[in-house]
Amino acid sequence: MVAFTPPLGWNSWNTFGEDINETVVMESADTLIESGLAACGYNYIVIDDCWALKERGDDGRMVPDPAKFPHGMKYVADYIHSKGLKFGMYSCAGAHTCAGYPGSFDHEFIDAKTFAEWGVDYLKYDYCFHPFTIAGNVLYKRMAVALANSGRDILFSACSWGADETKKWIKETGANLWRSTYDINDSWRSIRELSLVAGDAIKHGGINCFPDMDMLVTGMNGMGNVGLAGCTPEEYRTHFSLWALLGSPLMIGCDIRSMDEPTRETLMNMDVLAINQDPAYNQAFDASANASKEENEYPIYVRLLDNGDYAIGIFNFSDVASSRWNTYLLMDTIGLPETTGKTLLLKELWTGEERKVTNGILTDAIPPHGCKLYRAQVVDR
Ligand code: GLA
Repeated sequence: MVAFTPPLGWNSWNTFGEDINETVVMESADTLIESGLAACGYNYIVIDDCWALKERGDDGRMVPDPAKFPHGMKYVADYIHSKGLKFGMYSCAGAHTCAGYPGSFDHEFIDAKTFAEWGVDYLKYDYCFHPFTIAGNVLYKRMAVALANSGRDILFSACSWGADETKKWIKETGANLWRSTYDINDSWRSIRELSLVAGDAIKHGGINCFPDMDMLVTGMNGMGNVGLAGCTPEEYRTHFSLWALLGSPLMIGCDIRSMDEPTRETLMNMDVLAINQDPAYNQAFDASANASKEENEYPIYVRLLDNGDYAIGIFNFSDVASSRWNTYLLMDTIGLPETTGKTLLLKELWTGEERKVTNGILTDAIPPHGCKLYRAQVVDR
């Protein structure tokens, strides 16, 4: 199957980890609808690790843990589908998942068939405990071909954390999206670290091969499985802006049943989501003066949108406010020199503030850990 835009949805891992069960999953599906998140495009409900019994059944198939999923997975899938949503599950290229449950190694076809029978629409496929004698690309091909022959359209979400130079071979495996980074946790430090390495991964992505910067921590507020220090609403906005602008899948990781208002506003900003879902999926590029630095704390990511607008994100990953000397964008660098007679009319997507670039340079003082995210229309000077 072909994915034309990055998938949007909710995943159980960040908040629930091993404490996953049918009630949480079905209530989260209800909340996706009732909160309006589904209407914004978040339509996948993904159960991550720890859903199975530790041993396979006598028929060689994986068995949902009856204490967590007493009615089995088809029941959960049917419920999710009845809401108009899609159902995602998790397995691993190794013999065990990262949390020690059965993985799909050497069981790829039977597992793909089982998932198809249950009504699975999305498979996240991890990389723990795989045999080192078999190359990663072969392990992902094994599951890709099994899914493609399972009789059901199942989106294939590879999760090899960028390891073993994933970017060089992932496109040949048929994965629709691929984790380009190691695991996120709910702290500014983690967001910052993943952001600093993001620029490289996006060069290897494209339609139907979306680099996945990991699930969102927006709204976790320090609670749950990967909850650490938590972040401020502004840091969560910066995180969301960057993931959206760079074209990452957006999988919500907080407990949406108890979302607070800033979380709602961040996750449901339709202008920001429109950039993430832009049909052209042109690659973002760093147009800042520091772009050639290996780790640029002041990137200015720019992306040409399908209707001719630009999306522009100016970021400050450092701990001090930026000055006009470290966050400025020259119109020349994005194809709009003075000779064109054109400039940009900007709308900042978090505040609604509008302004026009008048002198060929866009400068902004950005607070520490903050950002400005613009949609910019090309207009006469
Ligand atoms: C790995 C993945 C995470 C999560 C856990 C589950 O660490 O990268 O996203 O799926 O495994 O054990």
